[in-house]
Amino acid sequence: MKYLIRQGRLVDPVSGIGGVMDILLEGDKVAVIGSDLSAPGAQVIDAAGLTVCAGLVDMHVHLREPGFEYKETISSGARAGAAGGFTSIACMPNTKPVIDSPGAVAFVKEKAALARREGGARVWPIAAVSRGQKGQEVNDYEGLKAAGAVALSDDGVPVQNANLLRDAMILAHRQGLTILSHCEDADLVQNFAVNEGRVSRQLRIPGRPAIAEELQVMRDAMLAEETGAAVHICHISTAKSVAIVRRYKKKGVQITCETCPQYFTFTEEEVLQQGSLARVNPPLRTSADVEAIIEGLKDGTIDAIATDHAPHSAEEKARSLTEAPSGMVGLETALAATLTALYHTGEMSLSDILRKMTLNPACILRLPGAGRLSVGGEADLVLFDPDEEWTVDPEQFRSQARNTPFGGRTLKGRVKYTIIGGEVIYRYGEEGTAL
Ligand code: DOR
Ligand code: ZN
Ligand code: ZN
Repeated sequence: MKYLIRQGRLVDPVSGIGGVMDILLEGDKVAVIGSDLSAPGAQVIDAAGLTVCAGLVDMHVHLREPGFEYKETISSGARAGAAGGFTSIACMPNTKPVIDSPGAVAFVKEKAALARREGGARVWPIAAVSRGQKGQEVNDYEGLKAAGAVALSDDGVPVQNANLLRDAMILAHRQGLTILSHCEDADLVQNFAVNEGRVSRQLRIPGRPAIAEELQVMRDAMLAEETGAAVHICHISTAKSVAIVRRYKKKGVQITCETCPQYFTFTEEEVLQQGSLARVNPPLRTSADVEAIIEGLKDGTIDAIATDHAPHSAEEKARSLTEAPSGMVGLETALAATLTALYHTGEMSLSDILRKMTLNPACILRLPGAGRLSVGGEADLVLFDPDEEWTVDPEQFRSQARNTPFGGRTLKGRVKYTIIGGEVIYRYGEEGTAL
């Protein structure tokens, strides 16, 4: 199949080149990028008014399979990713059983291949740091890597044992695998529902203090410095966490980090309006934290924007704030939420934003062929209208889950086409439905 994408505004964070261009896709590769291309027999996609860039890469999602298929499956999550403009997504291992063996990684790869055939994004498995995510024994990283794991993480049940984490870093480093660390001290946060601060006091419930995150960001930064291993901090949410990463990057330590749209859009106050829908770990913080996150994105301290897409059932989220599980879905709102908060406010350029949603996460995970648009490279692209407004209706999601605090919000930025391996796998229809 040949596609000629005509007159799209190309944004290429790698070269910094932008401008209206034509792009010819042949088979699963980008064949030509140029002006006024003609290609007899090619199917033409009119991209006038649309931004064209490498397909988005989400380095942090939860797809719940195996074990929690009632929340999401690899297929439903991968298809939700495609609708959100993502062509590659990396899924966390906190499933049942935990993805901690080569066989379990192979299972995810098989389901990922099926999901691709059903019009989903490419799915890349992340394996667990510790056996059963119990924080006691390291896994066989060599075997996990050979089976296809792209990184290691105990996200969901973060590693508390510094001795184990230190060993894990040394072993992971030998395999060229990065550890993705959810930083929260378990004793300080327990199973508390919200940030410790104004809102927890108002609700008279215990909260998760910022220092619970910051202590472990500092721990991980120091361990990365000592071991020489690469560490990546997941969903950074506090001002001091940003400052720590900034300082350790300056020292030359191999530390990277991500944040998520919820942490630069909402504050802890959102819990008062939305209850359990705004419950997430780490929790939504203060407006000073939101400002520091945006500053960290702007100055390059924060490398990537991920979703931490965390589907839960309606029943689970209907429980009270203190009983409901933490997490929110994000695949189908991430691009629009990010453009709304960072681009349409004039905080960041499209190119700088897209770098954090394509090239940077692909580099951190060392994903072959992902995150860049180049002649001869993989034909994974997204075409979107950065200015189109729409109101989030979770009922329209391809995700099985609806738990988002963005429901009912008007966002600016609409995914129009998602192309993977030279095939249009998602098209937003004229009448407002996915084709
Ligand atoms: O809010 C969260 N939800 N944070 C995590 O670390 C895990 C995730 C989940 O798996 O639901
Ligand atoms: Zn996490
Ligand atoms: Zn997560």
